[in-house]
Amino acid sequence: MIHEGPKLCERTTIRLGGKALAEVRVAMREDFEKLPGALRKLGGDMRLLGEGSNIIAKDGELPIVIVTKAQVHAPHVTGEDEQYVYLRADAGMRLPALLAAASSLGLTGLEGLTGIPGSVGGAFAMNAGSYGTSFGERTHSVEIFSPHTGFAEKMATDFDFAYRSCALRGHGGWFLAASVTLALGRGDKGAIRAAMRDNYGKKQSTQPVTAKSAGCVFKNPAQGVSAGKLLDEAGLKGMSLGGMRFSPMHANFLINEGGGTYAAAEELLHTAREKVRQHSGHELELEVRIWP
Ligand code: EPU
Repeated sequence: MIHEGPKLCERTTIRLGGKALAEVRVAMREDFEKLPGALRKLGGDMRLLGEGSNIIAKDGELPIVIVTKAQVHAPHVTGEDEQYVYLRADAGMRLPALLAAASSLGLTGLEGLTGIPGSVGGAFAMNAGSYGTSFGERTHSVEIFSPHTGFAEKMATDFDFAYRSCALRGHGGWFLAASVTLALGRGDKGAIRAAMRDNYGKKQSTQPVTAKSAGCVFKNPAQGVSAGKLLDEAGLKGMSLGGMRFSPMHANFLINEGGGTYAAAEELLHTAREKVRQHSGHELELEVRIWP
């Protein structure tokens, strides 16, 4: 299914960005197989969009085609052994819904990711992490689709997972995840739910979880060195420009207070990097993806 001119400000959690050329939505296997041809016809750079929770898009007419994935199947158990139960989820599923499904089945291992608003595919591609849990360490295998391989099952060991990144070794060009199989432990439903509640409470008291943001905008520059703390110490907390503001609660969250623009966001990000460099000598790298 192809839509013309989707607006990124309606499709990203920070609510910024202009119009893409088109959106191609894939659901069934035939849709994936038709995708390379559709993209060739449409032109423009391809970008995969999940829940849009880690993306800051530029203003204006954007020369990109976004590809989105529908959730077709409910998450389902594909097998188990002594140590793990294997739970497969469509990449187009929302991550919070996967966590809810895992907890209802009494499957443990994803509780640390509570409060992350992305999709399963996005959490895999970014190797989303929080409270000591990363998506990659729970991944058992991934069904990918690429123009070169068609559908192919890859093991977690075929990917290099690192802090907020994931790459398929030896694969040139684009691929997309169709579904991800997680290796989860057997746990007690009550204890899993309690851990999720605890983590969400912790997040709510330290991060602006309901604000229009893209989560943390910068990566932590080293293990144990918080970009938020560095930004705070360099005086960025609460700084605002043209409808955008660094959260007074956690300085690594850039918030759209309404009427914000990419231009204002860009200027604030630039100022932030300069000030942190001057104040602490740390070079901050973006965690969010800027489109295009
Ligand atoms: N801090 C400040 N001022 C601030 C922000 C933080 O002093 O404005 C201090 C906190 O008080 C704390 C320390 O910095 O002592 C660390 O803060 P926090 O626990 O919030 O962790 P973080 O390193 O800032 C990382 C991830 C978050 C993830 C949390 C919890 C990155 C860039 N951030 O934040 O991930 O939720 O740990 O695990 O890796 C994201 O990726 O979008 C994200 C929000």
